[in-house]
Amino acid sequence: MITNRTFTMIKPDAVANGHIGNILAMITNAGFRIVSLKLTQLTVTDAQAFYAVHAARPFYGELVEFMSCGPIVAAILEKENAVLDFRTLIGATNPADAAEGTIRKLYATSMGENAVHGSDSDENAAIESAFHFSGREQF
Ligand code: PPS
Repeated sequence: MITNRTFTMIKPDAVANGHIGNILAMITNAGFRIVSLKLTQLTVTDAQAFYAVHAARPFYGELVEFMSCGPIVAAILEKENAVLDFRTLIGATNPADAAEGTIRKLYATSMGENAVHGSDSDENAAIESAFHFSGREQF
């Protein structure tokens, strides 16, 4: 497994609000190299599968509906300590708790509509990357 990579999605709220460019700039300015990148949209079935680990949580239906409601940007990012450093860059899940200068502090509006996803472990980064990108799409 490659452990210096993480996976992210710029979520439908941030795409719809025109924040793709600013968020990608924050990511590259923080030292992440873009390994893979695409504008795409999850089907309901895709979102159910991607978030299957949260299926028992009360917000699962809302999360699936939101994540399939419009286009997202999916990306694989590379940097030493990628998973943890990216979680620091995006800030807390709830934007009310996110630190100043983080992506969620700047662009998220709620727990659900929180602008970006970041993998929570090296193992999940590999699984989530393979969900969206073939080997040929990883540079
Ligand atoms: S985390 O990052 O996994 O520790 O966060 P967690 O709190 O476990 O949340 C997992 C994902 O569910 C989303 N979420 C919600 N969506 C809708 N409504 C509510 N109330 C809600 N709470 C959490 C949260 O944004 C996480 O999505 P991802 O894509 O993993 O960031």
